[in-house]
Amino acid sequence: MFKISDTVSWVGKIDWELDKFHGDEYSTHRGSSYNSYLIRDEKTVLIDTVWEPFAKEYVANLKKVIDLKEIDYIIINHAEIDHGGSLAELMKEIPDTPIYCTKNGINTIKGHHHKDWNFVEVKTGDTLDIGKNKLIFVEARMLHWPDSMMTYMSGENKLFSNDAFGMHYASELMYNDLVDQDELYAEAMKYYANILTPFSKFVVKKIEEVVALNIPIDMICPSHGIIWRDNPMQIVEKYMEWAKDYQENQITIVYDTMWNGTRRMAEAIAEGIKSKDKEVTVKLFNCAKRDKNDIITEVFKSKMILVGSSTINNGILTSIAAILEMIKGLKFVNKKAAAFGSYGWSGESVKIITEHLKSAKFDVVNDGIRELWNPDEEALERCRKFGRNLV
Ligand code: FEO
Repeated sequence: MFKISDTVSWVGKIDWELDKFHGDEYSTHRGSSYNSYLIRDEKTVLIDTVWEPFAKEYVANLKKVIDLKEIDYIIINHAEIDHGGSLAELMKEIPDTPIYCTKNGINTIKGHHHKDWNFVEVKTGDTLDIGKNKLIFVEARMLHWPDSMMTYMSGENKLFSNDAFGMHYASELMYNDLVDQDELYAEAMKYYANILTPFSKFVVKKIEEVVALNIPIDMICPSHGIIWRDNPMQIVEKYMEWAKDYQENQITIVYDTMWNGTRRMAEAIAEGIKSKDKEVTVKLFNCAKRDKNDIITEVFKSKMILVGSSTINNGILTSIAAILEMIKGLKFVNKKAAAFGSYGWSGESVKIITEHLKSAKFDVVNDGIRELWNPDEEALERCRKFGRNLV
């Protein structure tokens, strides 16, 4: 526990060991935290809980801070089990305490816990007087689940934003002005790229809606990672930038290779690009050897991606198939793409990748390039030319 103000305390869990999130779908190189907040005004309010494996520890720690029976209201901004997961353990102690959440939140909590607790459905604009401060609920549907919402605390002007504006980043420093800024923004961008990209339209709409309310925001308290207390609107501005078809002057080459033929093609294409454009950043990733979520963050930053695979069994290599599936699901917009790959006899990989890129709504700029067996100097020169032409 630590105090954020005289009224609000953090009562969450820092998960230093977490290396994978959402099953194995999201790598967390710097761990994470599940931020739960306790407000002690005339009424006592608990906002969100922590991930299920820490439920006993969480409730035991909470008991050191407060007699659980003093909690008047529980607010679940989002019922995914990294936030709602400790409810079962908590509700054993205080089964009648009202749980405030959206209509979808009620369904989601019931779907996970199969309990009919004392739910209170809230909508955007609903308020809860807790004494000197007032809580105002703001639904944030599809940011990133149908049940997501935020809770604004007027008086102290704190926004409990849940997943939005958060990041998987374990730090005992806990505030944005204290942590390493490069690490902070790398994790915040990775979080946005890998989780929020498909919902960018909703991000823009929601931020515009909140800004139009003209409410002061002195602190943003997300449910993962650090708390934004120094110029908290900086992350809101970043989200607006990221949500509007973000791209940098970068071309990312993602490939997998069996006997280095496709790798040599990738390097020759990169050489061709750089020979024509010194300014553009070109990054190469062997998809089978590099972290898939880090690659996705690089795709997010790119204006163009090139995807390459050897042909195997009339198809593509599995690491490429996997990342193409991720890319499709994330619904990137306004990005160009092309395919390449080496082959021995049938040579379908380039066509297959091209089709995947088209179905992921990338602007595929040509039919790609394929080279037989291990590319010789002439073949590599064709790859360099391919790179130059892309520029
Ligand atoms: Fe942090 Fe969507 O849960």
